[in-house]
Amino acid sequence: MALFDQFQDLIRSHAAVKAVGADPFGIKMERVLSPTEAVIEGRPTILVGTNNYLGLTFEPSCIAAAGEAIETQGTGTTGSRIANGSYGGHNDLEEALARFYGRRSAMVFTTGYQANLGIISTIAGPKDYLIIDADSHASIYDACRMGSATVIRFKHNDAADLDKRLQRLAGTEGNKVIVVEGIYSMLGDQAPLADIVAVKRKHGAYLIVDEAHSMGVLGDKGRGLAEVAGVESEVDFIIGTFSKSLGAIGGYCVSDHPEFDILRIRCRPYMFTASLPPSIIASVTAALKVVENRPELRTRLWANVRTLYDGLKRRGFTLGPQRGPVVAVQLPNPEIAVHAWQQLLGSGVYVNLALPPATPNGTALLRCSVCAAHSRHQLERVIHSLTEVAYRIGVLTVPARAAVG
Ligand SMILES: Cc1ncc(COP(=O)(O)O)c(C=O)c1O
Repeated sequence: MALFDQFQDLIRSHAAVKAVGADPFGIKMERVLSPTEAVIEGRPTILVGTNNYLGLTFEPSCIAAAGEAIETQGTGTTGSRIANGSYGGHNDLEEALARFYGRRSAMVFTTGYQANLGIISTIAGPKDYLIIDADSHASIYDACRMGSATVIRFKHNDAADLDKRLQRLAGTEGNKVIVVEGIYSMLGDQAPLADIVAVKRKHGAYLIVDEAHSMGVLGDKGRGLAEVAGVESEVDFIIGTFSKSLGAIGGYCVSDHPEFDILRIRCRPYMFTASLPPSIIASVTAALKVVENRPELRTRLWANVRTLYDGLKRRGFTLGPQRGPVVAVQLPNPEIAVHAWQQLLGSGVYVNLALPPATPNGTALLRCSVCAAHSRHQLERVIHSLTEVAYRIGVLTVPARAAVG
């Protein structure tokens, strides 16, 4: 068998997708005009698939801070912090994150993926157990594979199933570490965190919450689902990313554990990769201040969420179970989803195409993400275009069509 024979099925299915039109996994933004608009295939296109929840990618204070950092500190750190040392900004950002969450310590990673990979794979040792939600992000699954703990999956968002699985481990020696997400990246639903915390307490387990899609989005302070659920003190490790609400790249973990910092010389995805460049550190530090000082962005985001989620629901679309900034339009199968995605792009609307195995329960999704910077007009155009495409390909039924004004 030749080296690439293992990819033949994938090569065939990708070719079939591309044969329909533009390649959903190879889209080129020819020109980015704003957080919500780019030129794609020569056409001005509304971006509804960015995770740029607060629209901070063009925030003037972040751009100015990044520019100044490049001018004064250069373009990159050219190595990891344990080898090349930290720039002052790395430590300042960690202190700012710890303050933001009211925690003792914070640790910054080069991506959110590496934050999950590093913390989850390191924190649970060979005798320990990682008990993860079945719909966990790929970075959580990869972390489990990289680490040495025994991995157990529980049914998505099912605290009773989590309880059952922990019960079966009663009397075993190792630590039990539960891993859940604040807002799930594909369907946009939230973890039942209060119930999960109750189970955690019952079994004396630890809890990691990945707030990648909920930081900046949920809570009066923007600290995420743990803040809304009122259980922050019960979460042992919060993991997050700079690539969504904070509009840049990078990841972090915050904790109150007194020995947390030892991870800096044990956690391989922290130790053996270059640290974030000064420009990113500076822009993220500025973005964190925006999250803290401009709650009106969250208010605007949620008004936009209501416009898009409720508007699509009224048209008859099947959506993810909970209203939130990830609005997942469910389509009957991958072929229909690819067609719909292509036609939407042709009408000047970009969303994410999400297909199995990246989606839960084999669903095919047009995954939209809402931004505080979307105008009402843009969102109405998105609803209109999605509805038109759904008629054309026969996804929406006639009674739903009659409802369209
Ligand atoms: C739940 C979740 N965790 C972690 C990540 C990884 O974050 P990043 O893209 O910043 O590496 C993602 C990315 O989409 C995610 O959805």
